[in-house]
Amino acid sequence: MSSRGDVVIRPCYATDVEQFRELRLLALRDEPDAYGSTYEESSRRPTTAWIEMAKTGNYFLAFDGDRAVGMASGGEFSPYPHARWLYGMFVHADYRGTGVARDLVHEVAEWTRGLSVMTLGLHVTTTVSRAVAFYRGLGFVPSGPAEPMQRDPTLHLQTMTTHLLSNDRI
Ligand SMILES: CC(C)(COP(=O)(O)OP(=O)(O)OC[C@H]1O[C@@H](n2cnc3c(N)ncnc32)[C@H](O)[C@@H]1OP(=O)(O)O)[C@@H](O)C(=O)NCCC(=O)NCCS
Repeated sequence: MSSRGDVVIRPCYATDVEQFRELRLLALRDEPDAYGSTYEESSRRPTTAWIEMAKTGNYFLAFDGDRAVGMASGGEFSPYPHARWLYGMFVHADYRGTGVARDLVHEVAEWTRGLSVMTLGLHVTTTVSRAVAFYRGLGFVPSGPAEPMQRDPTLHLQTMTTHLLSNDRI
């Protein structure tokens, strides 16, 4: 758990499911090109599926009081078995530029370090320029060429990675 001002970051639990769903659906509406899932398919998911995702997805939520304002998750990505992957990154527009996003990445980095894994990777859509700048600023560097996104091949995903032993920004 970490905090910045009034914002506290902690793991997501099954009991957070309503806020978790709302925030995730907001993310998918707010920046649809950033994600492999769509608002349309996700909004049809039953509550049980959201609970499962909240419980097992290694999600972290940022709370300002009772209000969930940011999220990120850590997981695996099979082509990089010796790394862990950052997924589902989103911060409510009111909290951008505050450092909450960095703190969320820090939690996923700490989770990764806790597994004795020292590479953290992610995919970012090349046209989502604020996210690309954000990740660069945290020391992530591009790895290989950008590849078409499966769901929409007009979009391209750039893999970025960082070595956590030499990264003191997260
Ligand atoms: C991506 C996201 C989590 C980053 O959090 P944030 O609080 O906005 O990030 P920061 O403000 O700390 O950093 C953003 C950087 O982009 C820069 N920036 C801002 N607007 C920009 C734009 N339109 N184009 C390019 N860079 C931009 C900022 O100056 C800052 O760079 P700096 O640190 O060198 O000054 C947040 O913007 C977000 O949730 N976006 C919508 C969802 C999304 O894109 N998720 C990414 C999924 S891979």
